[in-house]
Amino acid sequence: MKQISDGIFFCGLHDKTRKVFDQLVPLPQGTTYNSYLVKGAEKTALIDTMYIKFADKYMDMLTANNVHVDYIVSNHAEPDHSGMIPTLLEKFPNAVVYCSPKCAENLKNMLGVADDKMHVVADGEELSLGGRTLKFILTPWVHWPDTMFTQVVEDNILFTCDFFGAHYTANELWADCSPELALSAKRYYAEIMMPFAKFCVKYLAKVKEISPKMILPSHGPIYDENGVSFIENLYADWTSDSVAKKVILGYVSMYDNTTLMVNYLENALASRGVEVVKADLMETDEGELAMELIDSAGIVFGTSMVLTGPHPKSIYTAYLANILRPKLKFSAIIGSFGWGGNLTAPIDAMFTLTKPKKLENVIAKGRPKPEDFQKLDALADAIVAEF
Ligand code: FEO
Repeated sequence: MKQISDGIFFCGLHDKTRKVFDQLVPLPQGTTYNSYLVKGAEKTALIDTMYIKFADKYMDMLTANNVHVDYIVSNHAEPDHSGMIPTLLEKFPNAVVYCSPKCAENLKNMLGVADDKMHVVADGEELSLGGRTLKFILTPWVHWPDTMFTQVVEDNILFTCDFFGAHYTANELWADCSPELALSAKRYYAEIMMPFAKFCVKYLAKVKEISPKMILPSHGPIYDENGVSFIENLYADWTSDSVAKKVILGYVSMYDNTTLMVNYLENALASRGVEVVKADLMETDEGELAMELIDSAGIVFGTSMVLTGPHPKSIYTAYLANILRPKLKFSAIIGSFGWGGNLTAPIDAMFTLTKPKKLENVIAKGRPKPEDFQKLDALADAIVAEF
């Protein structure tokens, strides 16, 4: 355990070897699961717990520090933070879990936590630990319907759970506000928070209103007074309405006909002053792709035909782009086929939540011909007209 300030401790753990988050986004440096201990004159509360994978290490840490838990605050029921609640309730049978109504429902369904072990809080409700008060602020949808923040009123520090999280293990406790941390927080935001960007805007305003002295998220480092503005400014940028003059060109090509078209469009766009993020979908890191989606204006899929439809990698990418709900303004499909099929409908069908404007697709039969390249020039012009 590490002391953050008088009576407030970090009892999280680093998972530097974890390779993938949510079985989806690669983790270049692993992640952390943050748990905090807040001591009052009379009572002690844990703020979020631990991923059960680290059960022994976590319980050994609490035991070694003679921790007695009166309250467990569960800001969010996802198991990377709630997994140890049943074990803690066995060790501290008089402890009570404080959580939002939705969180109580989730803890019951996911971990079998009994109703009489939970106290469901109302927005703004307070709990005294003796000279130190916890205030619960309901913040649904960053990123589950159950999420809430907990504020230590007297110290004005704010536990935001996943909001402001980062997959960053380069330092032990405090945010170094480095470009590397910004990138880790961006990778985190792109997968976890971007689908809920409108709620992020709402709660970013709420955090600014609270003006905390420290932000203590459930992944990554703690933000002190300087760090608070660092992470707030990043969120303000990512959640803004503006997009860059940038297009993602994600492609997969079996016999290089599609590659010829992709390379031609890349040059056509670059010569028109458009930034192109070219991504080979056979090798793409989903986290990189998600980060590029934060401020890209459009996406163009380059795909070969496989049997009677687009390559499955392009459909997967379209599905991912759809569920992450980025600010995409437009999309198009280019590619080549041999003998038949529909190269576009299965990709377009993925866009049910995110609805970019469809620009004219360019589909070549076999090797792309001069008229196909002319159409790619026209597509480049159409893209430029969108800015
Ligand atoms: Fe880090 Fe939504 O759990």
